[in-house]
Amino acid sequence: MLGAPNKDAAMRTILFSSQNYDRESFLGAQLPAGIELQFQAARLSLDTAALAERHEVVCAFINDDLSAPVLEQLAAGGTRLIALRSAGYNHVNLSAAQRLGLDVVRVPAYSPHAVAEHAVALILALNRRLHRAYNRTREGDFTLHGLTGFDLVGKTVGIVGTGQIGATFARIMAGFGCQLLAYDPFPNPAVEALGARYLDLPELLAQSQIISLHCPLTEDSRYLINQQSLAHMQPGAMLINTGRGGLVDTPALIEALKSGQLGYLGLDVYEEEAQLFFEDRSDLPLQDDVLARLLTFPNVIVTAHQAFLTREALAAIAETTLHNIASWATGQPQNRVHG
Ligand code: NAI
Repeated sequence: MLGAPNKDAAMRTILFSSQNYDRESFLGAQLPAGIELQFQAARLSLDTAALAERHEVVCAFINDDLSAPVLEQLAAGGTRLIALRSAGYNHVNLSAAQRLGLDVVRVPAYSPHAVAEHAVALILALNRRLHRAYNRTREGDFTLHGLTGFDLVGKTVGIVGTGQIGATFARIMAGFGCQLLAYDPFPNPAVEALGARYLDLPELLAQSQIISLHCPLTEDSRYLINQQSLAHMQPGAMLINTGRGGLVDTPALIEALKSGQLGYLGLDVYEEEAQLFFEDRSDLPLQDDVLARLLTFPNVIVTAHQAFLTREALAAIAETTLHNIASWATGQPQNRVHG
């Protein structure tokens, strides 16, 4: 362990980007002795890092800025542990953290069901056009044109990344009677046991009617879905991304939607989401022209990174995060992220 904690002092912990639901779940959890919590609504950035001064623990979420300059400022202010409230850690500069003696811990699994079920919700809503039907009936329009869907049974679903979330998603889609294809450098026997066939990515894209992304964002997976891979897909295919925004090249998605090559798109994540998501910006002009264009398509649903947001997942995030901080404080850190 790099930054040995002082066992006697209170573990002052500041939770950046905290919303009411974070406050409720953390205050509802068993608070280990010696941990003090301070809820801070601001997103962590160079401008707000000073708020963490004299806090040994910074508890951060996915759109907090954990780049080298921010980590330097945190370390200078006395922070020694970054406790992520997320599974993904692509937003942390791990080599800078290591250089600065900052430990990083995360919540490796809180509820794969929450995310997998949200991916399924996007599939069902897009297929049966629930977003359009909802608006239509509220306007007194009870017509059905443009709402034709397809039976899921027998359709081929391609799963990119078959770890905890991908495997949970696979089980649900198997229940619908879908054929499963998978792509992952490390095939999962539990997914193979469902009858899934592992293929390389171009083959999976070519054979699937629905493709769902469940792999982490790494240098290898950035823009996994791009102009070229979109061209491999079946015309009119459905793409679901609840992974990370950077897995897809968004301008290429827009071109594929315009041409009809992509038939449906469900996004819970967006590459430029950090400046937008989790805030009410409904009174302001949307400055992001790419997102604005995406939102014009009738066959696109965007949710603002809410796949994790179930009561069970929030409770598990709070419990594991507090446990991570407490075990780090006793010198036996768990769920560490290694650079
Ligand atoms: P996991 O670590 O259990 O599984 C990830 C799988 O992806 C592993 O089997 C790994 O071998 C595979 N993989 C790695 N690189 C790949 C590549 N280039 N192509 C295909 N497969 C690849 O992770 P878990 O818990 O299933 O989460 C997956 C991702 O979901 C996270 O990394 C995170 O980005 C995202 N996520 C999104 C949430 C949301 O609210 N939208 C919430 C939680 C996670």
